[in-house]
Amino acid sequence: MTVTQDERRYAVYPSLRDRVAFVSGGATGLGSEFVSAMAAQGVRVGFADIDVAGAERLLDRLSRTDCPKPLFVEADVRDIARLRTAIAEVTDGLGPISILVNNAANDERHDSQAVDEAYWDNAIAVNLKHHFFATQTVVPGMRALGGGSIINLGSVSAHTDFVGLPAYVTAKAGIEGLTRTLARELGPDRIRVNCLIPGWIFTERQLAQFVTPETLAKLDQVQSLKDNITPADVARMVLWLAADDSAMCTGQKWIVDGGWM
Ligand SMILES: NC(=O)c1ccc[n+]([C@@H]2O[C@H](COP(=O)([O-])OP(=O)(O)OC[C@H]3O[C@@H](n4cnc5c(N)ncnc54)[C@H](O)[C@@H]3O)[C@@H](O)[C@H]2O)c1
Repeated sequence: MTVTQDERRYAVYPSLRDRVAFVSGGATGLGSEFVSAMAAQGVRVGFADIDVAGAERLLDRLSRTDCPKPLFVEADVRDIARLRTAIAEVTDGLGPISILVNNAANDERHDSQAVDEAYWDNAIAVNLKHHFFATQTVVPGMRALGGGSIINLGSVSAHTDFVGLPAYVTAKAGIEGLTRTLARELGPDRIRVNCLIPGWIFTERQLAQFVTPETLAKLDQVQSLKDNITPADVARMVLWLAADDSAMCTGQKWIVDGGWM
């Protein structure tokens, strides 16, 4: 695990130890790095995903570390009733949740002329709707704890010239508005809501599906820092936003894109 191996180089957050987190879409990609990085800080992490094999691989990797063992719950975030029971299972198994990372998404490409209503509704369900309902579900527990940190995954695609996935970009732009209004509403309860916006991160899925010589050449033009952004680079922002080090930060966008211009 990148963060575990590098832990002497990067920050350790004492406020995270023994907290309970819930990560949607935590089995693979960035989500699995968030689960690993938080577990390496002593967080008790529950994560939901539809990818059972991916979750088992992650649990197997983490079982060879001395991190607290995460709790996997198989759940499709489009099924809001199931999402609620998944959150309840994590609360029952690990304790009250004080960190929520709304991460599950699907960036499948779609031609705007071919999109029908069912496709659109499904894209919004997997990329936006669950952010609201997961938040609604954890808020009473966070209020009882005296606060919490909610981290919504946005996307650089809502800020650049991306075409070919309009429903996804719409959802990602909506997450920024949702972040603002919920931050304002929940601030008096010391529940912080922030939007984390990654640039282009070479996860397994991105490498398999979207990385080509042409897209790499374009990235090299627009990204100011020329190194590849790793999942661990994004996970370190999750850790900071989850920890008390960011106690007075809410309602904002936190961009890890290497300076995309
Ligand atoms: N990788 C990037 O370059 C990038 C860039 C910008 C934003 N993001 C955002 O970061 C987050 C993570 O991205 P990623 O690249 O790791 O994505 P990914 O596709 O690699 O992983 C997403 C995870 O969500 C799970 N998932 C998908 N549909 C689900 C469902 N219906 N119910 C439960 N789980 C489901 C998948 O199984 C997977 O484990 C997403 O919100 C994405 O929009 C990623």
